[in-house]
Amino acid sequence: MRTYNVAVVGATGLVGNEMIRILEERNFPVNQITCLASERSRGKTLYFRGAEYPVEVLGEKSFKRIDIGLFSAGGSVSEKYAPVAAREGCVVIDNTSAFRMDPDCPLVVPEVNPEAIALYTKKGIIANPNCSTIQMVVALKPIYDAVGIRRIVVSTYQAVSGTGTKAVEELIQQTTALFNMKEAKVQVYPHRIAFNCLPQIDVFLENGYTKEEMKMVNETKKIMNDPSIAVTATTVRVPVLYGHSESVNIETKKKISAREVRELLSRAPGVKVVDNPASKEYPLAIDAAGRDETFVGRIREDESIPQGINMWIVSDNIRKGAALNAIQIAEILMRDYLR
Ligand code: A2P
Repeated sequence: MRTYNVAVVGATGLVGNEMIRILEERNFPVNQITCLASERSRGKTLYFRGAEYPVEVLGEKSFKRIDIGLFSAGGSVSEKYAPVAAREGCVVIDNTSAFRMDPDCPLVVPEVNPEAIALYTKKGIIANPNCSTIQMVVALKPIYDAVGIRRIVVSTYQAVSGTGTKAVEELIQQTTALFNMKEAKVQVYPHRIAFNCLPQIDVFLENGYTKEEMKMVNETKKIMNDPSIAVTATTVRVPVLYGHSESVNIETKKKISAREVRELLSRAPGVKVVDNPASKEYPLAIDAAGRDETFVGRIREDESIPQGINMWIVSDNIRKGAALNAIQIAEILMRDYLR
């Protein structure tokens, strides 16, 4: 069996580190792993399959003889180095927003549009969608295929880990400071995140939405390959460490009952239905953390319109929302294209 040289760009970060763990867990046929990060990480080491690897500083020459590059070091790093890697013949799977809306780059969620990967030959870059979008489309695709979806209204409750290591530290430090009657330092977010909810993720755009909200709108249409779906989003950062939660309301083209949605989703790839109100069972971020599935519950008919469904969708934003999705893409790439 062929094995692959894999580089992880941003290997010291939350997502990069999880990528390394998932490569290990899923027994990805890695020949050689290269851990890349910034100058700040010079001298650090990381572990893969029990062996120690030095972190290398990312540069123009980092991609010689690399087959697959998993990028998660921020948009500007991807903009600069993904094309460098692609020129060396390395297929890039990019977790940033840099190439997501590029018509020559596929935007892929394996449970939804694995066929789109074929487009990767254009630029050698495959984009991994935004974390909130991934978990939403995993849960909505089976419903879309069964009865069509006219409109999606989503509100998110997003964990701080989506912002990276510094944000996780900030929530912990602020919480600890407040419990000790000390001042909470605000550095990463525009306001205090501890004991608060921030209705701003990323920057504001001219239309009054945030960039995160418009990512959900535009990426959903691209992944579902249907520009006619109406999507509107409100994205909110909450003081949760791991796991994004979403309240999702959809208007379907044909009527579907809550029971039928539950049945459909219980057979859907990557989905686990947790929906038992009688025993207070519904998806929780604390249960989703560390898991691969997208959890769906609180499935009920929207009684305010003839063809509406409400649901609550939760997933680990670092795993399915980022690292796992990227490695699932790599698995398809290796199975169907790189052999
Ligand atoms: P470093 O640890 O050297 O700063 P997180 O999202 O958890 O904050 O992680 C971000 C990741 O992206 C880290 O691995 C970080 O490396 C990496 N990174 C950030 N900026 C650069 C850069 N200019 N070049 C290479 N890696 C970078």
